[in-house]
Amino acid sequence: MRILSGIQPSGALHLGNYFGMMRPAIELQEQGEAYYFIADYHSMTSLFDAGARRRHTQDVALDFLACGLDPARAVFFRQSDVPEVCELTWLLGTLTPMGLLERCHSFKDKTAKGLPVNHGLFAYPVLMAADILLYDSQVVPVGRDQKQHVEVTRDIAIKFNEAYGATFVLPEPRIRDATAAVPGTDGQKMSKSYGNTIDIFGEEKATRKRIMSLVMDSRTPQEPKPDAEGNLAVQLLKLVAPEAAAREWEDRLRAGGLGYGDLKKALFDHYWEHFRHARARRAELEGNLDHVHDVLRQGALCARAVARTVLDRAKQNCGLL
Ligand code: ADP
Ligand code: TRP
Repeated sequence: MRILSGIQPSGALHLGNYFGMMRPAIELQEQGEAYYFIADYHSMTSLFDAGARRRHTQDVALDFLACGLDPARAVFFRQSDVPEVCELTWLLGTLTPMGLLERCHSFKDKTAKGLPVNHGLFAYPVLMAADILLYDSQVVPVGRDQKQHVEVTRDIAIKFNEAYGATFVLPEPRIRDATAAVPGTDGQKMSKSYGNTIDIFGEEKATRKRIMSLVMDSRTPQEPKPDAEGNLAVQLLKLVAPEAAAREWEDRLRAGGLGYGDLKKALFDHYWEHFRHARARRAELEGNLDHVHDVLRQGALCARAVARTVLDRAKQNCGLL
């Protein structure tokens, strides 16, 4: 089984990224040939600061490796180290109907908000299709917000295969229901663009403050809370705490007599504990950046060899070779 996923270097990674995409991807590395990459070309559609891109790229590499991505099992690389993806983007773009891209949420949301949109943002799903198809990927672990992009990828692959004969493998998104949309500090989907994130490797004091500021209702501690299951802190606790501990906090909240402050404090403690090992590992990796860069270099060599074969197949089939 060929597994592939990517993540943009557009800021510090958060619990939504971790539980929605990174952890499932890390678990899948045991089950097939995994290709994971840092989508630096994609980040160019919304980040226009060269230094920030360089820093974030290194940070994503550190975060992913610290969280358990194992370069001995998974090929880990930087998207722009395999420029073949741009060539494939062109081949695919010529078979992509405008309407298909106009319907994509990522583009529609930005236009609806009146944000300036560029061609790169419009063509973003075509570059993502190229990422996926270039490695004959079968399974794509992502959060729910990326499902549409994988469907677009399938549509484009089908069109190409119809026009030029069997060329591309059709991929499937792999989305875990329980963590498909991790809520942020305001209860909306956690996202860098909403400013409601809890970072995986946030600084202790700042993260404690963020967690203590989770939005709750105004009921008194004494009141029983029959809707405890839907409480934001309880939902996040279920991600970072052992199952039995999370259930106990939920039961206490339901019964009444537990204040939101104590609940949030427990959430912070479990969050801190959950990433203790990864935090130590990240500090170690930070002291050995040569190793990190070496991992990405090796990964690119490996990824590029596969990419060349698939690109040549596509060029052959459409008459460029
Ligand atoms: P952001 O919305 O913060 O910009 P990205 O779009 O870079 O995050 O997402 C990177 C990966 O993390 C994608 O696979 C995405 O589906 C997943 N992801 C992001 N936020 C969440 C969330 N709140 N819940 C589940 N998965 C998420
Ligand atoms: N668009 C994805 C995101 O913002 C990142 C991405 C780029 C990706 N190429 C991909 C994810 C290919 C999966 C497969 O999260």
